[in-house]
Amino acid sequence: MTELDVPRALEPSPFFLARSPYERHRQYRELNRRGPVHRVVLPHGAQVWLVTGYEHARAALTDPRLATTEPLFAEQLPPALRSAVESQMLNMDPPEHTRLRKLVTAAFTRRRVDGLAPRVQQLADELLEPLVGRAEAGFDLISEFTYPLPIAVICELLGVPPDGRDGFRQWTSALVNATVLGADALVEANAGMVEHLRALIDQKRARPADDLVSALVAARDGGDRLSEDELTSMLHLLIVAGHETTANLIANEVRALLTTPGAWSRLVAEPERVPTVVEEALRFDGPIQTTPQRRAREDFELGGVPITGGDMVLIGLLAANHDTEAIPDADRFDPVREPVSHLAFGHGIHFCLGAPLARLEARVGLSSLLARFPRLCLAAPEEEIVTAPGVLMNAMESLPVTVH
Ligand code: HEM
Repeated sequence: MTELDVPRALEPSPFFLARSPYERHRQYRELNRRGPVHRVVLPHGAQVWLVTGYEHARAALTDPRLATTEPLFAEQLPPALRSAVESQMLNMDPPEHTRLRKLVTAAFTRRRVDGLAPRVQQLADELLEPLVGRAEAGFDLISEFTYPLPIAVICELLGVPPDGRDGFRQWTSALVNATVLGADALVEANAGMVEHLRALIDQKRARPADDLVSALVAARDGGDRLSEDELTSMLHLLIVAGHETTANLIANEVRALLTTPGAWSRLVAEPERVPTVVEEALRFDGPIQTTPQRRAREDFELGGVPITGGDMVLIGLLAANHDTEAIPDADRFDPVREPVSHLAFGHGIHFCLGAPLARLEARVGLSSLLARFPRLCLAAPEEEIVTAPGVLMNAMESLPVTVH
């Protein structure tokens, strides 16, 4: 029996199905009050451990008794497809993890990423310019801006031509929502993505360019340090991780600002505070709700509960960032809070490779919105702006905005 076949006898834990961010925060607060580690039920019925206390979550992220492993439902994929998408660093421990991460580290260092700032700004301007004239009629900030910006950035970095980007958003949302959408959607999305990536690799083999895909193809064909499946899996990971997260971060930070009285106009007057606000948005409503799963290598105790070898463990980054024992007044979005050591990008050897890029995009995205739309506001009552159900992501379905 696989994880997907578990009978639907158990009610899913409510935070995975919450329709409002504040409801989700409230439920996690409740959970934290009861302890740092919990048995929870995923939307398809499987039970896992969820670590929500800040200190325990931080420690679990580097605990050698928890091994990283393939994501939920990987066993539902046909073997060849599974190998083409799952041979990647997030699922691996050293030494494989070290070898794969090293191949792309240089492209994502803070210095390299800072050099991309003018281009990210230009892309943001190109997306926002056409919206200025029609802002009064209202638009969905997510589909018009927060998704297209990071997709354009990661695709340019990789060397995916503009006409080859269709499908990424749809495939990616099926991939990150597998526990809600089910196995068929997951297989279909992975198959579409891999076919697309293989065509791209063939293109770069025939005509190499100054981009990351060509550099990885050269690493594969030259030193044989990368198998063909590792190459497709790496691109798959960079595209999925490289846009879905940042898109939701920018949207979540705008919503938090627009629903905190006076916060938008104060930031318009003091845009130098944008980096602080981005850190607070990462902490308060970061786009990753729980990490990909870990499996216990042995029996041990964690936060007072007995974990059995083979058990599946998720680390609740969002809940940990709302643990009031570690972060005072954690349930309040405070745009002037001094940055705290949040877990939104994880911790340890899998700490987000793209953190400098995500921060750059979130800062440029937010600064550009403040400059062009100083009178931005929600175009729907706050309670109508709904959170998407899910385990991995903490995302909204849409964010209707207008100007007043
Ligand atoms: C706000 C945006 C982002 C957030 C909150 C975020 C969060 C995370 C987290 C929590 C992890 C660790 C997961 C774990 O421990 O299981 C991670 C890993 C990773 N992220 Fe991000 N991410 C973001 C943006 C990006 C971007 C823009 C890229 C660009 C390519 C990226 C690439 C990666 C990669 C490759 C890994 C795997 C690292 C490893 O296994 O060593 N992420 N991210």
